[in-house]
Parts: sequence; structure tokens; C-alpha cells
Amino acid sequence: MSDQHHLELKHVVFVGRSWEDYCQMFNLNEADLQGRNVLDCPGGAASFARTAASKGVEVTATDIAYYFSPDELLAKGLEDLQTVQHITSQREDCIEMRETNPRFASFLEEMTATLHETVADIREQGYGTRYVPGRLPNLPFADGQFDIALSGNLLFIYSQQLGRDFHVEAVRELMRVTREEIRLYPLVSTDGQESPFLQDVLQLAAQEGWAAEKLPATYELMPGYELLRLIRN
Ligand SMILES: C[S@@+](CC[C@H](N)C(=O)[O-])C[C@H]1O[C@@H](n2cnc3c(N)ncnc32)[C@H](O)[C@@H]1O
Repeated sequence: MSDQHHLELKHVVFVGRSWEDYCQMFNLNEADLQGRNVLDCPGGAASFARTAASKGVEVTATDIAYYFSPDELLAKGLEDLQTVQHITSQREDCIEMRETNPRFASFLEEMTATLHETVADIREQGYGTRYVPGRLPNLPFADGQFDIALSGNLLFIYSQQLGRDFHVEAVRELMRVTREEIRLYPLVSTDGQESPFLQDVLQLAAQEGWAAEKLPATYELMPGYELLRLIRN
């Protein structure tokens, strides 16, 4: 794989969440997704696409990490989870969260299990259908290929690593490949403050004729956060 992909991947952790977590992050339920062609970008190590398939919901997961082999993904994911474990064991707010939020106490075990599950599914499926290598802001999909796109834990949260241009071009690209709506979560960067690029994305939405609304998310691990729903007019 190219050095560029290695460099880009270095700054972002390869972890993933479950179907239930996605429903909470994006304020969705199964009925909202049935019969729709869904894009998960970035899919990361999330088991959302696999669980969706078992429910008859068609999800395509794309991620820059899928340019790597399953062995490389597992190694990167396990290393990233160790880093997360180290950081969260030092930070006072995380120590407090672990004591008060039962979900926080178990999230590393849950994410480790999800990583193993997803890498096993990638091995079984191969790349090309459910898991498609792709790099924002240039995705390998046709205009309007998806009814709805979900983008969790990449935009806004990495505002210190990914700049304004990346945010605007990434959302413009999601608009290109999506016919109906896009949901982005969360709207804050890692310091818990609203991302400085949210206003740029809202401006883009207005320019491109997409309605925007903030909705509450109910993801137990990050209580009180919101998502942005963009709807093509
Ligand atoms: C924290 S994970 C989020 C995964 C999943 N959406 C979730 O919420 O659990 C972030 C993912 O973004 C991917 N990523 C980083 N830069 C990317 C880019 N330019 N295009 C596509 N994916 C990217 C990383 O490989 C990583 O898997």
C-alpha cells in the first residue's frame, strides 16, 4: 500500500462500533433503514454492515483502511485499542466516566470483540461488495449510488488532524454519492467543543441545496452529543 495511505491512517484509530451503537449515534432504527441502500463511510472496524446484512438491510462499508490486508487491520486495530486504553486510563474525565457510566467500563472489551468479528467477516467476504476500499474525499462510487450515507467518528471529531478543506470536500463527496440524506456524528472534536468546521459544512449544505438539522444522539458512550442530518431538497 502507498506511503500516503499509511501516513493518513496513522492519525486515525481503526476501531468500530456495533449496529446498536450506530442506531444510537445516528438516531435511527431498523425500519428507517429497511429497503434503503446505505453507505457507511468510514466503516472502520464496525460490525454495522455485517449485522445489517443479517437483517436484510443493504450496507456498503468503505474505509481507507480497507486498502490493507485483514492481518494488517487486526494488528493496527489491536495496537490502537492499546493506545486508547492507555489514554483513557490516564485522563481524569475518563476515570470518572468509568465509575459512573457502566457502558464506559466495558467499551474496550466490546470494541476488541467487534474488531475480531469484523476482520473475520472481511476475510470471509473479501473486498469489493460489503467492504470497499475508499478514501475520502474521492470515493469509488457512482453519483447517487446510495439512498443514505452515515459518517461516524471521522469528520469533526478529528478537527485537530483534518482541516477545513478536507471537511468541506469530504461532505461534498458524500453529497455526490447520496440521493436522499446524510448523517454525521458527532459534531464536536476530541476536546468536546463544537468543531470549528461545522459552520463550513452548514454553509456548504445551504449552497448545495441540502436542508440541515441537528438531532440528539443517544449513544451511551458519549452522552449528550448531537448528530447532523442533511436532507437533499
Ligand atoms: C474511529 S474509526 C470510525 C469507524 C466507525 N464509523 C465507527 O464509528 O465506529 C475512523 C475510521 O476512519 C478511517 N479513515 C481515516 N481517514 C479516512 C479517509 N480519508 N477516507 C476514508 N476513511 C478514512 C480510518 O481508517 C478509521 O477506520
